[in-house]
Amino acid sequence: MTSTASYQPVPLPDYRELPLEEMRANAEAVYTEMRARHTVRDFSTRPVPRDIIETCILAAGTAPKGANHQPWHFAVIGDAAIKKRIREAAEVEERAFYAGRAGEEWLAALAPLGTDENKAFLEEAPWLICIFGERRSRSADGVLRKNYYVPESVSIACGFLIAALHRAGLVMLTHTPNPMGFLNEICGRDPHDKPYILMVVGYPKDGATIPAHALEKKPLDEKTPADYGVDVAPRLKVLKTEEPGGRKAGVKVKSVAELVDKLKNEAGVL
Ligand SMILES: Cc1cc2nc3c(=O)[nH]c(=O)nc-3n(C[C@H](O)[C@H](O)[C@H](O)COP(=O)(O)O)c2cc1C
Repeated sequence: MTSTASYQPVPLPDYRELPLEEMRANAEAVYTEMRARHTVRDFSTRPVPRDIIETCILAAGTAPKGANHQPWHFAVIGDAAIKKRIREAAEVEERAFYAGRAGEEWLAALAPLGTDENKAFLEEAPWLICIFGERRSRSADGVLRKNYYVPESVSIACGFLIAALHRAGLVMLTHTPNPMGFLNEICGRDPHDKPYILMVVGYPKDGATIPAHALEKKPLDEKTPADYGVDVAPRLKVLKTEEPGGRKAGVKVKSVAELVDKLKNEAGVL
């Protein structure tokens, strides 16, 4: 079956146009809400019901994805022994990273965040969600197929997940131990799957802090052509303007033959 044959349009199911004022108010409300999301690294051990995490993952799955393949796998880990294994494996990598593997420039970039190789939150937070990207995966009817735009699709889904967790009243850390291939073995994933993010989720610990540096956000900026070295000053000079001359009266011809003759011999256009 060709893709054209399998294409079946259905009416847009749930769009509702909003009055401009409501649009503006909603955009403002979303901005206010998202501005109150902060990456947290001090987690409470307080439990969070699993169904809330699952609903947030369903929300993540609504994200756009290349060819509507769902090139992701969300592994939800709440088991203390598995979290301990993940912490131990992550800290092995992080010790090497902070001891120099990252390079001076990267470590300098991380300095204002105050992070180090100690990853206690991997055991303290109630949930870890490991998000894998799948280069190939099975369709609903079991056919193994190649996936497209895997990093883009997974990243957008992670953005949806973060927004959903935040909306649900939880805090999270987008953690990326480097490298994190150890997660394939611990989560029982195919070695070809790529772990993208280890999302740490829960409640903040009492007295949790965040780095002041993380509050710096780029403002909206309006650029002028001059910012890009482009000179848009007009270079055309108007010397004079004059009306076009009046049209001469035409003549009536008596036959097609006469018209053709005039076009050929007088106008010279044939
Ligand atoms: C792809 C990605 C990887 C990140 N990896 C880590 C990490 O491994 N450890 C960490 O403490 N924070 C990590 N972060 C969190 C950033 O440091 C944080 O988002 C940034 O400092 C801005 O803070 P905010 O999220 O509160 O706005 C990561 C963020 C992203 C987007």
